[in-house]
Formats: sequence, structure tokens, C-alpha cells
Amino acid sequence: MAFPQTRLRRFRKTPNLRRIVRETRFTPDNLALPLFACPGHGVANAISSMPGVYQHSVDRLVETAKEAFAEGIRTVLLFGIPESKDAVGSSSWSPDGIVQRALRALTAEVPGLIKVADVCFCEYTDHGHCGVLLGAEVDNDATVENLARQSVSLAEAGADVIAPSDMMDGRVGAIRQALDAAGFANTPILSYAVKFASGFYGPFREAAESAPKFGDRRAYQMDPANGREAMREAALDVEEGADMLMVKPALPYLDILAGLRQRFDLPLAAYHVSGEYAMLKAAGERGWIDYDRVLMETLVAIRRAGADLIFTYAAREAARLLAAGWVE
Ligand code: PBG
Repeated sequence: MAFPQTRLRRFRKTPNLRRIVRETRFTPDNLALPLFACPGHGVANAISSMPGVYQHSVDRLVETAKEAFAEGIRTVLLFGIPESKDAVGSSSWSPDGIVQRALRALTAEVPGLIKVADVCFCEYTDHGHCGVLLGAEVDNDATVENLARQSVSLAEAGADVIAPSDMMDGRVGAIRQALDAAGFANTPILSYAVKFASGFYGPFREAAESAPKFGDRRAYQMDPANGREAMREAALDVEEGADMLMVKPALPYLDILAGLRQRFDLPLAAYHVSGEYAMLKAAGERGWIDYDRVLMETLVAIRRAGADLIFTYAAREAARLLAAGWVE
């Protein structure tokens, strides 16, 4: 039946009518907060391109995670700014590395918090690329070996979930094998299966001090134009044993997320990345958009496209809005 028998506006009339036909919702359970651990004590370095985001020394990071947990955020994602960098990023697998220290402190002080450890080398190498260099290229297989070492070290330090973001071929299988051999058969792998070579990572590289010293990451991260290849990346990671898949960035790649949702039954994550967050903040600060409203619209859109878990720097803001009874 068409108009005038059918009038879709009937269920839009009041907030309560809209509520009962609302198809997509999210709670703080669906949100994960990225955190940056740096050396020192009592440190909170503001990131200029990401208002509200800091590099935290472990003590301050624990405080922040505690507050977030109390607000309903169950999951954090850890990045590290190490004391020292070298050609291969060896501080990333040191038992006394910055993220390892943060993991131990969080385990002791925020019981129940889910600690996801990002696995990559760009924060730990002196050249800023995501692995071992062979000439001007990242050597895939040598890097995969090191990713496995880093993963085991992070699991030993207390990571609940291992999340490789490097985009080397074959790393999920190698990490799975290494974790199993080290007694971590029950530690899940959240694969950044579909990670595009994106300009939206710009502000993150200030936060993580991880910008490449030469070139870019297009020889390992995906071409933004490729949707079918994204499905192949995901399928390979599923075959290698990934327990959850991530799409990154989120908003410009919702078609990819929706495609994965149709094809795979694994839990899916999406990363609302630094540049996406920075754009909302900048426009909000100028009064060009209503920040709260656009944030919640963005998050519900990422959910609608198929994400179970959304990594976002705005996780705490969104949790507070939900607690205050936010309804669109
Ligand atoms: C590490 C990594 C990056 C991000 C997450 N893990 C940066 C990159 O690939 O250059 C980006 C996150 C963000 O922009 O918020 N490889």
C-alpha cells in the first residue's frame, strides 16, 4: 500500500513513538577507549590536534581508565610512547616496555577492565615504519616474526586481547601459533583486518609520535579505493584464526563494514580514528556543528553499519551523554 494509506511519519510524531521503532542502539558496552602510555610520573601531555586526548604516564593512565570504567567503558586500547626507539622496535617486546608496565598496573588496579593491546612497530622504530626495513621497504616475514614476539610479551604482561594493526601478510596465523605455544590459547586476536592507508590517521601520529620519517604506508596498508580486496583481507584473517575483525577508519568505510557484516559472523569492530574525531572537535569548537549531536549520530551510524564494538576517543563523552538519557 502506498500513500495516502501509508504514512511513515505516523511513527515519527513523538519522542516515545520514535523510541519504540528505533532499530539501532548502543550502550557503553559497545565503546572502547584508546589510551597512550608514556614514561614518567604525573604526566598528562595534551595532544593539540585531539582536544581531550593525552599522553599519560602509567599512574595517570590508570586513573583515567578507572574513571572510564566507572562510567561504563569496559574496554581500553593501549598504545605506547617508549623511552627509546631503534631500527626494529625492540622496546615493544621488552618485558619492561611502556605498554607492558601499563598492562600490569591496569591489571592490579582496575579489575574487570578489558585491556586490548595494539600490536605494531611504528611507535617503536626510529624510522616510524611498521616493521623491519629491507632497503626502503618493510620486510613482511621478518616483521611477522617480531609481531609474534611482541604479542606474546603483551599477553604475558596481561593483555586480554591482542590487536595487530601492522597489515603484514600472514601475521594473524603467526601470532595465533605463538600465543598458543606460549600458553595463551585463550587470548583472542582482534585483527585490524581491513586497515586503509588513510589521511585520517594524521592526528594520531602526533599522539603516538609515530609518523614515518620517509615515504608513507601505502605499500602495506590498503588502497582506499578497494572494496573487494577488503573482503579478501578479512577472509584470510578469518582463515588464520582471527576472533574479531576491525575496519579502520570507520565513517568513510561504512560500506566495507556493512559488507563484512553480511559475509562474516565474527564480532566486528570499527575504529573511529583520530582525524574523524579531530574534525568533529574542530567544527564543534567553532560552533559550526552541534558536537554532541553529530557525535551520537556518527556512533549510531557505525553501529547500524554493523559494528559490535567502536573504538573512539569520544567513548567517555558518549557514555556520559547516554547516562544523561540521550535520545536523538
Ligand atoms: C599503528 C596504528 C595507527 C593507528 C592505530 N594503530 C597509525 C597508523 O597506521 O599510521 C591510527 C589510529 C588513529 O588515527 O586514531 N599502526
